[in-house]
Amino acid sequence: MKQNCVHIFTLIIFSISVIACNQTFSPPKRYRIGVSQCSDDAWRTKMNEEMQRELIFHPEISLEIRHASDNSQLQCLQIDSFIAEDVDLLIVCPNEAEEVKSAVSRAYDAGLPVIVADRQVTGEKYTAFIGGDNYAVGRHMANWLQSCAEKLAATPQQPLQVIEIMGLAGSTPCVWRHAGLIDGLESITNVKLMGSGNANWFAAPARVVADSLLRCYPETNVIVAQNDIMAIAAAEVAEKLVYARDIYGDRRGSIYVLGTDAMTGEGGGVEAILQGKIDASITYASRGDMVIQTAVKILNNEPYLRDTILPIMLVDPAVAETMQLMSHEIEHNMATIQALQHRITWLRDMSQLQRVLLYATAACIIILLMLL
Ligand code: FRU
Repeated sequence: MKQNCVHIFTLIIFSISVIACNQTFSPPKRYRIGVSQCSDDAWRTKMNEEMQRELIFHPEISLEIRHASDNSQLQCLQIDSFIAEDVDLLIVCPNEAEEVKSAVSRAYDAGLPVIVADRQVTGEKYTAFIGGDNYAVGRHMANWLQSCAEKLAATPQQPLQVIEIMGLAGSTPCVWRHAGLIDGLESITNVKLMGSGNANWFAAPARVVADSLLRCYPETNVIVAQNDIMAIAAAEVAEKLVYARDIYGDRRGSIYVLGTDAMTGEGGGVEAILQGKIDASITYASRGDMVIQTAVKILNNEPYLRDTILPIMLVDPAVAETMQLMSHEIEHNMATIQALQHRITWLRDMSQLQRVLLYATAACIIILLMLL
């Protein structure tokens, strides 16, 4: 009889331990995602934050982000190191379409799912693409120029004179934004694109390009730039030139400037519009959250969209004000969500600890009873 009791108690303790272990220590499958960012600026930081934030819903995923400092060779090396490290999925924002193609193909051929985001690579060797509609950005630029031409009563004989500051020549947003602009201007007779120059997405080269184009075409009415960083830099140059050379006389300060990205927050294009540094911008969404959602679908073998082209929108001063207000609201909500997330993690850890303690106490009581 006594021996039977011992057996029953042992069985109970064993069962409790098994249940406790099962509930506490059965980890879900973990995934490692490698992210190869071409550059490191405010736009990329926003995209990285969006991706990290989305991981709140996927604690089984970890991200390793590497920045290639706008260097395609370095980006290829970083992609190769992700392949060697055997990550589960790769996210690439290619610096230049042709130069980064070989490394992306190597990853794809190695069986690694590859999501290409924002900029594209040449060829078809990728699993999914998510990025803004760059051709539409160019078309929107042309439409906006048409409205400027109307405002300034430009005619085919005295057309609106425009210069364009472009991004990095080998990157697809640069190519497609320019193509959209050229196609859009085809039917607009009172707007003339005088000259374009590449400034690789940065302020310093944009200053040089703007300076030389403005000196070549002193009657310029409008500057369009493929991102806001370059637009703000070019606007500063224009302002200085206009004052220094006084070429515009009573038209001082009348140069219109259009940028691209329309990021909210400090130093972004929306703030620049509200401060009167530039006149308008075109949104270019980063949607890091969507990139992660697609990654999760691919990792879970669920259906996903191969090519997602994100819509774009013109932001003028009226829209800018609404956007800035909304973004403050969103930032506030995000902070609340993050605080809640920390609280949930803390509560989950506590409840796990409590469960372990409960089982341990139960086991001790049973042992005590047995001994008694
Ligand atoms: C950020 C950026 C943006 C631009 C995009 C194009 O790195 O330069 O300003 O819209 O890349 O890929």
